[in-house]
Amino acid sequence: MKKKIKRILITGAEGFIGSHVVELLLLKGYKINAFINYNFLNNKGHLSQIKKTKNINFYFGDIRDEKIVDKAMKNCDAVMNLAALIGIPYSYEAPSSYVSTNIMGTLNLLNYSLKHKIQRFIHTSTSEVYGSAQFVPITEKHPLVGQSPYSATKIGADHMVTSFNKSFKLNTIILRPFNTFGPRQSLRAVIPTIIAQAISGKKIKIGNLKTRRDFTYVYDTAEAFLKAITCNNKAYGKTFNLGTGYDFSILEIIRLVEKILNKKLIIKTDRKRVRPSKSEVLRLISDNSLAKKTLNWKPKYLKIKGFEKGLKKTIEYMKKDILSYNNDISDYIK
Ligand SMILES: NC(=O)c1ccc[n+]([C@@H]2O[C@H](COP(=O)([O-])OP(=O)(O)OC[C@H]3O[C@@H](n4cnc5c(N)ncnc54)[C@H](O)[C@@H]3O)[C@@H](O)[C@H]2O)c1
Repeated sequence: MKKKIKRILITGAEGFIGSHVVELLLLKGYKINAFINYNFLNNKGHLSQIKKTKNINFYFGDIRDEKIVDKAMKNCDAVMNLAALIGIPYSYEAPSSYVSTNIMGTLNLLNYSLKHKIQRFIHTSTSEVYGSAQFVPITEKHPLVGQSPYSATKIGADHMVTSFNKSFKLNTIILRPFNTFGPRQSLRAVIPTIIAQAISGKKIKIGNLKTRRDFTYVYDTAEAFLKAITCNNKAYGKTFNLGTGYDFSILEIIRLVEKILNKKLIIKTDRKRVRPSKSEVLRLISDNSLAKKTLNWKPKYLKIKGFEKGLKKTIEYMKKDILSYNNDISDYIK
């Protein structure tokens, strides 16, 4: 009989999605080894408010380093890998860093998962692996097209994870979030960029207004990670789209933010945010039926009403924290 999953190693724990996953799993009574990217400030990122207790240990390191990964994985029953370099524009500048972190880092975690007899390895993919949709809604059978170095490295990591399931019988589950949004997201992402500018002024400098994305509120995304721990073994070796099944254009988001803040916004195209045309992914919308059926995942922030509710919560959070965001948006609010 398999041991119950009690302690989970979470990489990228201090990041946007990772910190929400850590909080949810602590709330549900799991013990967490939080793996935080080493930095000279000893900063715990979005986990800085959480103190070390018997339920959470912190490990500072790099997922590519063997010694610290070995140490952090000791006594763990499951691994959740959320660590990655995620910015698409920076992947044009530094593709080899992306290969090293996203592929080699994942491989390192996989190798040590075999050593530590990890019961479940939950890996985070991205909808960017599909490239521009060849059909919608996108199912997990859609071809994978690396339209940016970021996407190419995430495809590589996904294949590496699947190969460990097929070659070494590691119990892997790949979660493939479509765009996620909510409190704590950095300004690299489009929704916080729009909101920060809308709170601070009237002008919105933005890239392509027509691109459409399927946006999931981060609480729903975190729930899927919980489901990946509690679901039955039918999920092993599989990949699951995490999206709502509804999409919105950038222009529609600006209009909703305008409505919530009750202020007229002026839109200006920012050339720096427009991706090279063949790299731009125009539309992503998910078919999430496999996650609903196998993981029993039911996103709550659905359709325009749910999206607006998520936007409101994000705006409330950003209004409170706008001073720290302002350091990053000084370019926009001049
Ligand atoms: N935010 C989204 O919309 C979205 C959509 C699809 C997929 N994802 C995936 O979700 C995961 C989490 O993304 P996020 O949005 O929370 O981004 P994030 O940048 O907030 O989190 C990534 C985390 O990885 C850590 N990290 C980076 N390199 C590392 C290394 N070498 N060693 C250890 N840690 C390292 C960073 O410090 C950060 O905490 C990523 O795998 C990303 O590809 C995100």
